[in-house]
Amino acid sequence: MTAKTRPILRHVVSINDLSNKEIETVFDVAQSYLDQLPDPNFSYRIGRSTDVASKSILATLFYEPSTRTRLSFESAMLRLGGDVITSADPATSSAAKGESLADSVRVVSNYADVIVIRHPRDGAARLAAEYASIPVINGGDGAHEHPTQTLCDLFTLKRKHKQLKGLKVAISGDLRGSRTIHSFVYALARFGAIIDPMAAPGMELPAHVHRRLREEYRCELVSQTTESGSVDALYVTPDEPHQQSLFSGSEVDHSVILRKKIDAVYVTRFQKERWADKDQEYPRIDAKFLKDSKYSHASVMHPLPRVNELDAAFDSDSRAVYFQQAAYGVPIRMALISLLLSIRKEKSLQKFEGGFEALKQPLYDQPLTTGIRCTNKNCISHEPMEAQYVRNKFEVVKNHANETRLRCFYCENDVEHFVVAHKKNQWFVADTTALPSPAEPSFKDYVAFASSEDAIAAGYHPKHSQQKRASS
Ligand code: NCD
Repeated sequence: MTAKTRPILRHVVSINDLSNKEIETVFDVAQSYLDQLPDPNFSYRIGRSTDVASKSILATLFYEPSTRTRLSFESAMLRLGGDVITSADPATSSAAKGESLADSVRVVSNYADVIVIRHPRDGAARLAAEYASIPVINGGDGAHEHPTQTLCDLFTLKRKHKQLKGLKVAISGDLRGSRTIHSFVYALARFGAIIDPMAAPGMELPAHVHRRLREEYRCELVSQTTESGSVDALYVTPDEPHQQSLFSGSEVDHSVILRKKIDAVYVTRFQKERWADKDQEYPRIDAKFLKDSKYSHASVMHPLPRVNELDAAFDSDSRAVYFQQAAYGVPIRMALISLLLSIRKEKSLQKFEGGFEALKQPLYDQPLTTGIRCTNKNCISHEPMEAQYVRNKFEVVKNHANETRLRCFYCENDVEHFVVAHKKNQWFVADTTALPSPAEPSFKDYVAFASSEDAIAAGYHPKHSQQKRASS
């Protein structure tokens, strides 16, 4: 008897879990659903004609408020002919009794075929994916990522502007707290778009996202002097083949980029649930702001919900695409579900074709009680209810300058400062580059601590003092 080949378990926790080619496949399948519509310019309500998922159940596990993400996932599954079970109120789920997320997803893995999870903690979706035995889709985890919103955003841009390469996208508001923006900027960079960050004061992109754009997605920083004299930054991906008219070869002409009109303005609300100070200055985008000629053909986008940051009077302007963006949530999520469940056999996500699955790399992996911990206090690794299930797990990232950082497996925040200790020889050095790559056999001999004090408290001594002792 031949052993049944089990399908590969794929999760979509980060937008970087999908290759560019796979994202294009999601778009192709979503487009095929839209093509079934009698008049796609009038209504996006795809009939419940398809029963391709009639044998499958989608579970939505939502520990944070949601309208669009949960309902569009549920609508997508119903329109595919599948069924839906939902837990949308943490107060009525076993979480209220103290059940861990790790246990909940293991249980729900037997009740459904795919899980969509939303959680207030950064990295919660990665933890869920670690313990689930069915595909996990991240519906937004803390300030980390919201990959399916990005799929809707990119699809909207692509339908409107035909291609993503060379598009200049301005991003306004809370760039620090907004998970939709973190997934969005990675994807824009990967598709060769130009990012123009317009952060609210003090709400710039987190350092680790900014660094990753520069070091891993080859974004180059271009400074521009605004009318008020302040200096903003633009990120471009110089090695990517942008529009030929903009660049010759891999040369980037900054003045051309600076003069180029904005193709899209992406507006987000102040993520007040992630800030201690709830009363901060915040930009408001309205018709007056968008009157500037550089926005003359810009699509105005918003992941919604909006509060006050985008004037409702702008809704009737032909540049406003945010309700269309939300409507694409259904075909995009229909496509993703059907691909993850391999329902569309001719197209599936069974073969990973991209170079973005960094988490397959060997990791730094220690018990929670040993050595350095993630420095992001909102990381799921700091959730007391998950203490038995999380570990001090990091990807070891070395850049061109051989600087070494630890990237949290769950929330992907970086730890830049740590000391490196040798377990057998009991020494430590305050030099992050001393940590070998996890691919090296000696890697298992090392452990990292947050500080020299922590290393000393754990019984290690500075390397030079050990050498002195040996020679005396
Ligand atoms: C976003 C989210 O939850 O991050 N909402 C959504 O899913 N469209 C944006 C937001 O809440 O501001």
